Amino acid sequence: MKWLFDFLFKSSIGRKVVMSLSGIFLMLFLIVHLLGNLQLFINDAGMQFNLYTYFMTHNPVIKTISYILYATILLHTIQGIFLAIENRKAKGQSYAVSSNVNKSFFAKYMIHLGVVIFIFLMIHMYQFWLQMKLGNLPMVNYPGKEHAYKDLYAPVLQVFKDLPFVIFYVISMLILAMHLYHGFQSAFQSLGLNHKKYNPLIQWIGILYSILIPFGFLIMPIYVYFIQR
Ligand code: HEM
Repeated sequence: MKWLFDFLFKSSIGRKVVMSLSGIFLMLFLIVHLLGNLQLFINDAGMQFNLYTYFMTHNPVIKTISYILYATILLHTIQGIFLAIENRKAKGQSYAVSSNVNKSFFAKYMIHLGVVIFIFLMIHMYQFWLQMKLGNLPMVNYPGKEHAYKDLYAPVLQVFKDLPFVIFYVISMLILAMHLYHGFQSAFQSLGLNHKKYNPLIQWIGILYSILIPFGFLIMPIYVYFIQR
């Protein structure tokens, strides 16, 4: 077992494999999180959104996956920092994997973009996740439901009605897009999943993913700020 630990956490290739697998897991989480949050667009005073967040925070399987998610966020961040330090020491330049994407602006600043996203995440989780877990949220009743639900929709409206936070979310999503753009392709490269025939397809899916996902999140604060009341 020691050899596996040494490979995954001490060798440069192993670290990249850990970065790729954890990154792919986080990218899958983003798809689920985006699809769930799309319920903010339903014009029902947040009912579906509150029922959804209740389900996500009470279902035992999803709760278990959430703990894996928190651990993965920390692992991806810490491993990324170690990898960047190691590469900087070795070559005097930041971490990147393929010779092609190596030269891109995004590849060069992956660690900086990643640190900004981590800071965004801490603020975001303080605003919503901590509210859900420990906050004194108002309770709401819905027809046909036997118990009251925490109104998590209320802090979402409150945060997204505040222009500085709308701007903060929009800028963070642009940074997320840049991180995902390189991260998507880099993950496939590091895992050795590259083939002349399929590389253009992977590249296109990566471009689509890194535009659509951050865009989906980005329009939520804008929608709430300008349209929702
Ligand atoms: C801008 C639109 C977004 C909205 C409205 C939103 C909303 C929420 C809400 C209400 C929660 C707490 C309830 C729950 O766990 O579902 C939450 C948790 C979370 N959000 Fe977001 N979110 C947004 C964007 C993001 C982005 C872009 C990321 C990552 C880069 C992210 C990462 C997380 C994480 C990691 C959690 C904790 C999940 C868990 O406990 O399982 N969110 N978000």
